[in-house]
Amino acid sequence: MNNIFYTGQEIDFLSLIESKKYESIYILVDAHTNECCLPVFKNVFPSFENVSSIIIPAGEVNKSIEIVQLIWNEMLTLSITRNSLIINLGGGVLTDMGSFAASTYKRGIDFLNIPTTLIAMVDASFGGKTGFNFQGVKNCIGTFQTSIATYINPIFLNTLSKRHLLNGSVEMIKHALLQSEIIWNEAKNYSLTELISIDKIKQSIAIKQQIVIQDFSDNGIRQCLNIGHTIGHAIESYSYQTTFPLLHGEAIMLGLIHEQIIAESVLNTDSIIRKELIAIKERLFPDLNFTYLIDNILPYLLQDKKNSTYIKMSLLPSIANCKIQTVVSLDELKKSFSNL
Ligand code: GLY
Repeated sequence: MNNIFYTGQEIDFLSLIESKKYESIYILVDAHTNECCLPVFKNVFPSFENVSSIIIPAGEVNKSIEIVQLIWNEMLTLSITRNSLIINLGGGVLTDMGSFAASTYKRGIDFLNIPTTLIAMVDASFGGKTGFNFQGVKNCIGTFQTSIATYINPIFLNTLSKRHLLNGSVEMIKHALLQSEIIWNEAKNYSLTELISIDKIKQSIAIKQQIVIQDFSDNGIRQCLNIGHTIGHAIESYSYQTTFPLLHGEAIMLGLIHEQIIAESVLNTDSIIRKELIAIKERLFPDLNFTYLIDNILPYLLQDKKNSTYIKMSLLPSIANCKIQTVVSLDELKKSFSNL
């Protein structure tokens, strides 16, 4: 399981790295984190002042095989040996891709994640999923490989816009839905400022960790973490074809609401959860008015199963009670659009 270090635990974090006696250490950054986060990182850890960086382009469009190849090329050019460490300093796109490149280079070298976005702190930077998008399918290629550590420092959140902070808040809302009535009843009223406090970040990480620990390979209970994501990913992919590409969290906000409509008709779920989610959307995302039709998202939902008459998704019949692999017919899906 991931070793997670928080602000204040820098000495323990450095001791872990030193104990491994690496021949070389490199920092992977993107164009954005190179400028905004690397100086902050080197300020927190002056002993890394002279560590060299590998720089890749930023953004979801660059979560691709070409950029993974670029990282591998750099690793070879720099003669990085098996006894080396890659420090992934960035958001989820960078930590996913850097972890993949490290987990496959020379059959796997050590890496650790320093997430610089809220979404990467509470989700992508731990749990062992690595990968990149392929042929338009999100995270199509990847491995399960745990980083040697994750270091969480909210100082990096100062480099983010409000839109990117809100992006991460949706995964925290999702974790609260999965945890308990008590946590949900608190979380549903949090302001963005409350959500980004270190205590709430730690709480959110602990919720995901407690799920991942039971099902690292994602064959069962871990699929609960996919609530809102079946429809959400499809909305996100479709949005890239429009003039208003959504951030992941924005699409998942819409996906969570849409999937509750489906849960209401397929599992008889009470509409209260959907109403609470709509209230959160109206409070935190007042300008999120992205619209989509079934024909816009169906191709992404069906992917390679073009003749299928159903899809499967993780649905939430009640708080802290998730039903994975729920069969939803295309008729049910169509019906849900009339209630949007
Ligand atoms: N982001 C969902 C998971 O790690 O399984």
